Amino acid sequence: METQDHNRLSDAIMCLQQALVEGNKSSNVDIDMMLENIHRCSIIIKEQIDYEKDDFLKTAFSSLSGSLAAHINVLTNKLQNLNQNQHLCLSVPDASQTVLTTDMVQMSPDCGKGRNIRNSPAISKVQSTEDEAMSGGDSQTRNRQGIIESTILSGDHIRFDDVIGLKESKRSLYDAIIMPLMFPHLFSGGRRPWQRILLFGPPGTGKSHLAKAVSTEVKATFYCVSSTDLMSSWVGESEKLIKELFHHANSQDGQTIIFIDEIDSLCRHRSSREDEGTRRIKTELLIQMDGALQCANPKILLLCATNCPWDLDTAFLRRFQKRIYIPLPDYQSRLDMLKLHIKENPVNISTEEWSTLATQTDGYSGSDLSTLTLGALLQPIRDLQTTIKWEITQDGKWKPCEGTHSKGIRARISEIPPEKICARAVNLQDFLTCMKSHRPTVSKAELYRFEEFTTSFGQTG
Ligand SMILES: Nc1ncnc2c1ncn2[C@@H]1O[C@H](COP(=O)(O)OP(=O)(O)OP(=O)(O)O)[C@@H](O)[C@H]1O
Ligand SMILES: [Mg+2]
Repeated sequence: METQDHNRLSDAIMCLQQALVEGNKSSNVDIDMMLENIHRCSIIIKEQIDYEKDDFLKTAFSSLSGSLAAHINVLTNKLQNLNQNQHLCLSVPDASQTVLTTDMVQMSPDCGKGRNIRNSPAISKVQSTEDEAMSGGDSQTRNRQGIIESTILSGDHIRFDDVIGLKESKRSLYDAIIMPLMFPHLFSGGRRPWQRILLFGPPGTGKSHLAKAVSTEVKATFYCVSSTDLMSSWVGESEKLIKELFHHANSQDGQTIIFIDEIDSLCRHRSSREDEGTRRIKTELLIQMDGALQCANPKILLLCATNCPWDLDTAFLRRFQKRIYIPLPDYQSRLDMLKLHIKENPVNISTEEWSTLATQTDGYSGSDLSTLTLGALLQPIRDLQTTIKWEITQDGKWKPCEGTHSKGIRARISEIPPEKICARAVNLQDFLTCMKSHRPTVSKAELYRFEEFTTSFGQTG
């Protein structure tokens, strides 16, 4: 009898495992198959409840049976919704939301011993998913609105002047966004402002930085959306989020700007291997992009950014009326950025040394320069550990000095009151030392690819 029990439980585990594999898929989940497996598992568990003599295991099986029943209920509802082509968003659980968890599958003939099945996450997830199914699509709609509202940027963040260099890009954005908002009467008849702008360029060159600066400069509702905000593995949910985003933007009083960062993750080239879900997301985005432009009084400006524009589906690429290349910083921008990052710390770098630094950092992106500066700023702190000679400043602080300094005092850092210690100023050598370990992140080959792309499709910023 025991062996037979064991076999039945193994069958149940196998059924749950199969359902779990299906439920963990991010798309194209076979809900019928999930249902069938959970159903079979549920029948076996019910049999076990009748035969089981051990009270603890009996309770555990009852509890599991309850959660399986709830799960069957949820899936049946979802299946019905799917069949009616309503509430599509409730049709497929994703890996994080699925009610089936490895906890449930890990049941074994020894299960229950030392485990509180009633409080297992599997069961609480069943409960919440069931509640969701009961409350219908309303909570889903509210949830979606919440996600979209949380992407609205407010308050002063980065200003245009904080974005160093990129004069042409700033000018293009000024013409495209700020002028029409300041002088709407000038944009009438055939003269219409740009409505779909793509910023592309190597990583860390300030595309997101620039977009956020736009949000500060204009009096418009600014949605700062990352493609991950719009991605969901529930069938149909991503499309609904995209629809909600444009609907929300359209229902605002004034002008609205939607900024979608890393747009490439949403609109890669279409391929024959692409799944149905991805295809539907792209189609929805295309519909919304066209719809936003076609209305009589368009109020949505779509700003997108990517660092791999060649991955974009041509249907999307074609729809961007302006494609602005955000390049690596030039000599003057590098100089300004380095000085900006270090401006609040003591520095001992001459004008010639600054120009040496700006020359030697050719190929560094804005974010590379910010990391490099941070490394250089930490160098004097690192040196404190090995300093053995100190000078006392006018305000009574202990500062490292050369070993040959005649008035220097010999001491180890541990012998000085911590609040009295101050670091020396950052110098050229600190930067040069850091440059050995902080190399530029953008390769020459990648740069060449951007330049080629700009020649064919873009506009230099
Ligand atoms: N032109 C710039 N002016 C001022 N700071 C800049 C500039 N470019 C880059 N930076 C600095 O680099 C950081 C990264 O910039 P940002 O996130 O805008 O890069 P990105 O182009 O969007 O990169 P990715 O393509 O990887 O998303 C910023 O937070 C900023 O500190
Ligand atoms: Mg970015």
